[in-house]
Amino acid sequence: MIYIKFNSNDITVERKEMGSKANLKEKLKDELTEEELALLPRGFQTIGHIVILKLNPKLMEKKTLIAEKYLEILPNYVKSVYLNLGAIKGQFREPENIKYLLGEENPIVEHKEHGIRYQFDITKIMFSQGNINERKYLATLVKDGEIIVDMFAGIGYFSLPIAKHSKPKKIYSIELNPEAYKFLVKNISLNHFEGIITAINGDSKEEAIKLSNAGVRADRVIMGIFPAPKDFISEALTLAKLKDTIYHYEGVVDKESYLDLFNEFKDIAKTSGFESVLLAKRFVKSYGPGLYHVVFDINVFKN
Ligand SMILES: C[S@@+](CC[C@H](N)C(=O)[O-])C[C@H]1O[C@@H](n2cnc3c(N)ncnc32)[C@H](O)[C@@H]1O
Repeated sequence: MIYIKFNSNDITVERKEMGSKANLKEKLKDELTEEELALLPRGFQTIGHIVILKLNPKLMEKKTLIAEKYLEILPNYVKSVYLNLGAIKGQFREPENIKYLLGEENPIVEHKEHGIRYQFDITKIMFSQGNINERKYLATLVKDGEIIVDMFAGIGYFSLPIAKHSKPKKIYSIELNPEAYKFLVKNISLNHFEGIITAINGDSKEEAIKLSNAGVRADRVIMGIFPAPKDFISEALTLAKLKDTIYHYEGVVDKESYLDLFNEFKDIAKTSGFESVLLAKRFVKSYGPGLYHVVFDINVFKN
């Protein structure tokens, strides 16, 4: 069993070959058939005080019984069981179907990661465990005094680690979804970054232009959403300085033709009179057969 534990300062992956699945099977051996026992999940996710289970459809009738046993074998801080019945979908990247099952009915968790407190509602907001390294890594690239625009800020996935681990002058964090924005504001205050991060509730297409018209020129622009935010490139470029604005541009690619996505960015930038140089690329996580979530670091400048 691979046990991914989320509520310490860092994610720990404990491999319990003889551990929890065996434990769970032992607890359920008189109540489930051999076939059902074999279908028990290999792993599960805890975040804050909640364990989120994905169950095989054949186990759904026994879901409450299984949830009871999870609460028995997991540490005391785990107070609630929620069922994950769907994927992350749509423009707001919301979890489609996370439902309360057993224990305390409180979907608002506090997750600590890289020294930051993130509060959010697990039934409304995604928090991708696959992006953990990228959340930390981006902050290491930031130089003292930078002006940063985070165009798809969510609950502060990137803005908060940057404010914590680097010394930017200002971060403008734009978020359209009112629910995510509410937690963005909450998290800025929980972590005491009011002096560094300005949260903006709006569409980053319009808000980027408003910032640009107000004279904001960025050292770094984060475009962290996929499918790739191609339609936002022109507006994002209004924030560029004449020299050396770094864009972090995300997308989903296959490894053979990943450069097509960069070339698309480059061509759009060219029409606004900017050159683009690909500084680095990172494959953040797998995104289905042959597909990867990629981040490009692109230097944009005028000749
Ligand atoms: C889920 S985040 C992705 C964050 C990051 N890639 C991660 O997972 O660590 C993307 C955010 O962009 C927001 N969003 C979508 N369209 C937007 C727009 N037009 N303007 C501003 N925010 C937007 C969504 O509501 C969502 O919170």
